[in-house]
Order: sequence, then C-alpha cells, then structure tokens
Amino acid sequence: MKVLVTARLPEAVVGKIREAGHEVDMHLHMAPLERDQLLNRMEGVAGLLSTITDRIDGEVFDRAPGLRVVANYGVGFDHIDVAEATRRGILVTNTPGVLTDATADLTFALILAVARRVVEGDHRTRSGKFQFWAPLHFLGTEVSGKTLGIVGLGRIGRAVARRARGFDMQVLYTARKPLGRDEEERLGVRFAPLDQLLARSDFVSLHVPLTPETHHLIGARELSLMKPFAYLINTARGPVVDETALLEALRQRRIGGAGLDVYENEPQLTPGLADLQNVVLLPHVGSATVETRTRMAQMAVENLLAGLSGHRPPHGLNW
Ligand code: DGY
Repeated sequence: MKVLVTARLPEAVVGKIREAGHEVDMHLHMAPLERDQLLNRMEGVAGLLSTITDRIDGEVFDRAPGLRVVANYGVGFDHIDVAEATRRGILVTNTPGVLTDATADLTFALILAVARRVVEGDHRTRSGKFQFWAPLHFLGTEVSGKTLGIVGLGRIGRAVARRARGFDMQVLYTARKPLGRDEEERLGVRFAPLDQLLARSDFVSLHVPLTPETHHLIGARELSLMKPFAYLINTARGPVVDETALLEALRQRRIGGAGLDVYENEPQLTPGLADLQNVVLLPHVGSATVETRTRMAQMAVENLLAGLSGHRPPHGLNW
C-alpha cells in the first residue's frame, strides 16, 4: 500500500514501513509540505503519517478514497478533522504519553527563564556588557515557594505539578473534572476555578488541548485578573491565548512576563511581541528532544502499520 510521510523522519523508523511491504513517499525537506503538494501527493495513499503542521480535512480525504489511517506524529490533533475522518471510516491516531516529560521539562525551562531573566542575561554577557556585580543588578523573581496555577491537569499538567514539588511550590489547578481529595493529596495540588487560580498564582501554565471551548480561554479579562508580577507560560497551543490581548498586557506591564513556546498564528508572531524584554519566545520545541522525537516516530509508525493491516491501532482517537 502507498504511505505518505509528510515530514522527514529517521530512516530506521521509516524503514519499518518499507519492511512491512509498503511503498513510502516521504517529504524530505525541513520546511513543512505545502498545502497544494500535500493534496497532489495524496493520490492512491492508504496510510498518511502527518504532523501538526498539516491541515488534514475533507479536501485531503477527497484526494485519497482508499485512505485507511491518518497516523499523527504528535499528541495534539486540533489540525485534523477527526469527525469527518470518522464519518468516512478513516482511523486517526496520535502519540500520547511519550512527550509528557519533555514538555513538562520545557515548561519549567520557560518558568525559570522568564523569572530569572536567563535569555536577557545571556545576551548581556555575550555582548560584553557584564562589567560588574552589584546587589541590585539584574534582579529576577524567586520561583521556589511560589504558587503555580496549572490550567488543565492532563498528563502534561500532572508532570508539571510533580516538578513543582521539587521547587516547594503550592500548586492550584483547573480541570473539567476536579480530582478526588486523595489524588489531590498525592499530587500535592488543590482545585481552584479559573478566575481564582488566575488571581492567586505567581505563574500560570497552560496545558489544555485546543478545542472550541479553550480557544481564547485566556483573553483580556483573564489577564486582568492575574497578579501584576505573575507570569503566563504557554506550551500547549497558541490560540488558547488571545495574543493581541497578551501583547497589550505585557506592554503595559499589567503582568510580569510570559514564556511562550506556541503562538496564535504559528509560526508568525503578533507584531511587537518580539520587541518586548519581558517575554521568552521559543519555536514550538516542547517535545523536541532526540529521545522523545524518536519515540513519537516509532509510535506513529506502530499506529500506522496496525491501521493498514486492519488491526486496532494502539493509540486510536476514533476507534
Ligand atoms: C504535539 O505533539 O502536539 C506537540 O505540540 C508537537 O510535538
């Protein structure tokens, strides 16, 4: 069967698809496959191994009537029309769990970087402007002992909560369904409705998937509830935050700063964001470690091969 792999993956992993007897068409460039190329290359495809930069919708499905499985390389699937795939009998899978630790680590990297002005300090030192040590020089904000508000206590939110214990932080969380008291005790977290969490936290970290309900979950009103020295961290999905409202809040110093790995119109940034000192901006690298990306590729291929051979994939979203 024909398989389209829309991004360059390690040969050792892609080799497994060939070993299973399938023909592989892999996009070999670093830059994502353009929309028209994706559509053109869908002809005759039975298995699609896609990434978060491909919009997978009815138009894509129309090009490949024999499509059996869309194996997404990534855990988030807001770029895939799963309902339409289900209607057409196409399996959709993702790669949950394997990127939890990498993303939680990066969340803490952003917390520490914005609070302790790591990037600004690096620039200053490199540019030869580190000329003296002084008691009031380059002060940041203490992370240890502060209150962390976790919005969305799924796998990654919980992994962030576990890390927060090492920093003696108090952890508040919001979730669609609050945990039982025992589990809260075990994780060292306390439920708080979103508005209260925003008002009480020194760091607010977002860990919800992008859905119609979470689109612009954090807008001007929510930002105005945050403490004037609090930081917003987003390693989830850009459109969860109204980036224009965030830019205004940062410009007017209504919050302390932000650490962002994702953007509303990725890869574009809202003009003005990159001019601010009180933000740390990363290029969507939450899962970008060699170990994690290798596991994601293996998992996507396992899902793909199971779907192609008519078996239930280990990580199906719609079956
Ligand atoms: C995901 O998997 O959804 C991440 O955003 C990319 O690794």
